[in-house]
Amino acid sequence: MILAFPKITVKSYSIKTHVSDMEFIMEFDQKLFDNVIKAAKSFETSLNTRPVTPNEDAIHALNQFDEPFINSGMDAKDVINMLVEIGEQGVVSTRGGRYFGFVTGSALPVSIAANWMAGAWDQNSALSIMSPLAAKLEDVAGKWVLDALDFPAECGFGFVTGASMAGFTALSAARNHTYKKLGIDIKAYGITSAPPLKFVMGEEIHPTNIIALQYMGYGKNEFHMVPCDEQGRMIASDIPKLDDHTIIIAQAGNVNSGAFDPFNEICDKASDANAWVHVDAAFGGWTKVSKSRCHLTNGMERADSWSLDCHKWLNVPYDSALAICKNAESLTDMFGVTAPYLIEGAMREPSHHTPEFSKRARGLEIWAALKHLGKDGLSEMIDRTCNHAKHFASEMEKLGIIIMNDVVINQIVGTFDDEERVDQFIDKVQKSGKTWFGPTVWKGKKAFRISVSSYATTDEDIDIALQAIKDAL
Ligand SMILES: Cc1ncc(COP(=O)(O)O)c(C=O)c1O
Repeated sequence: MILAFPKITVKSYSIKTHVSDMEFIMEFDQKLFDNVIKAAKSFETSLNTRPVTPNEDAIHALNQFDEPFINSGMDAKDVINMLVEIGEQGVVSTRGGRYFGFVTGSALPVSIAANWMAGAWDQNSALSIMSPLAAKLEDVAGKWVLDALDFPAECGFGFVTGASMAGFTALSAARNHTYKKLGIDIKAYGITSAPPLKFVMGEEIHPTNIIALQYMGYGKNEFHMVPCDEQGRMIASDIPKLDDHTIIIAQAGNVNSGAFDPFNEICDKASDANAWVHVDAAFGGWTKVSKSRCHLTNGMERADSWSLDCHKWLNVPYDSALAICKNAESLTDMFGVTAPYLIEGAMREPSHHTPEFSKRARGLEIWAALKHLGKDGLSEMIDRTCNHAKHFASEMEKLGIIIMNDVVINQIVGTFDDEERVDQFIDKVQKSGKTWFGPTVWKGKKAFRISVSSYATTDEDIDIALQAIKDAL
C-alpha cells in the first residue's frame, strides 16, 4: 500500500529576517518535503512487519529528544531527519490493521494526502474569507455526512477536534436553546439566576459527556443516571419524568460493548415532554450506513443533536469530529462570533458553529475520505470491520475465552472464568508486538476489550492476532 503522489515541483527560496541584532536565515530546501514523502512511504510499507507498539528500548531511545533548547537552530531537513530517525521508533502502528485498542481508526491514505495538502496550504478555516476552500469543503462534507446518516438536510454542523468537544458544543447549544425557548437569555444574564436544567443519561454514558457538562458548570451529583441492561443500554422504563427543562443524553455505541440505547423509546418520552435529546454517536453513529446493521440505530435520527467522531470509524487523521444540531440556529446562536474586523462572506462561516475560532481545515480530509469511498465504500468499510469483529469473537470463543457482549458492531469484550488471568494475558499479547488491545471492567469483572475500527484490518491480520492470543494462552 504505497501512496501514489504526483511529482511536486517547488522552488528554493530564502528569507532573511532581522530580529534585534540577531540574524536568522530561513531556507526552504526542496528536499525537505521529498524526504517527508519518502519517510511516510517507508513507514507505510513497514506496517505489516513492524511491532504494533514500541518496546521499552524504543521508548527509551526517545530520551534523545531531551536536550536543552539552545541559541542556534538546526537545518530544517536535519530537524525532520531527526524526527523520523528517533521519533519513528516511538510510533504506535494505529495506521495498520492489528491495533485494536480503545476505539482507534486508522487513516485512509486519501485522507492523509488531503491532510498533507491542508497542512501545506496552512489554511485557517475560521472564516470563508480566510479560506474559501476550507469553508466550501466543510459545507460539502457536512452535508454529505447528513446525507449518509439520513439526518435532516436542515441540520447545522460544526467541525471540532473530537467527540468530547462535539459533546460540549452540542450540549452548550442545547442548553442555550432550551433556555431561549423558556424566554431566558443566558448569553446576556448567565445561568446563575436561571432555573436549573435536568440532565438525564444512562449509567453507561461515556465519561467525556460528564466532563463536558462539568466544564459547562454542572456537578455530577446533579445528573440523573438511568440504569442500564447487561449490554449497557439505557433501560427506557427507568427514565424519570422529563420536562421542557430536560436534556437527555443517549448513546450510539457503548465504548465497551458497542450497544445502542433505545432511541425510539427515549425520543417518544422526550418529544411528549418537549425535552432535548442529544446522542453521543462518537463511533456507533456510523452504523447507520451499514447495510446489515443500520437497524441498531433506529430512531437515532429523531434526536435534536449528535456528536460524531471522524477520526475513529471514518478513518481520517486526528483530530476530527462533528457536532450536529437539528436546529441549525441553536449552533449559530451559541457560537456565532461577530466583530467589526471579522468580515463575513456569502458562504457558510465555519467559526459560527464551533467554540473554536481559528482552526485547521478538517473538512478537507473528511471530504476526501467520503469522495473516495462513496456511499457504497463507506457502508462496506463499516460492515467489513463489524464482520471481522464477529469472526474474531467466535474464534476466540473456540479458544475458551468468554465473550461477554453481543458482538453487534465492531466491539468485543472478553474475559476468562478466572478473571485474574486477564492482566497477564493482556501483557503477553501486548508484548508480542503482533497486536494490541487493552483492559476494561465489564459488569464488575476484569476483561479485555477489542475494537476493530481500522479500514486496514484484513483476514490475515485477524489470523495473526488470533495466533498471538493462542501463544499468550
Ligand atoms: C462513546 C464515546 N464518546 C466519546 C468519546 C470521546 O471521543 P474523543 O476521544 O474523540 O474526544 C469516545 C472515545 O472513545 C467514545 O467512545
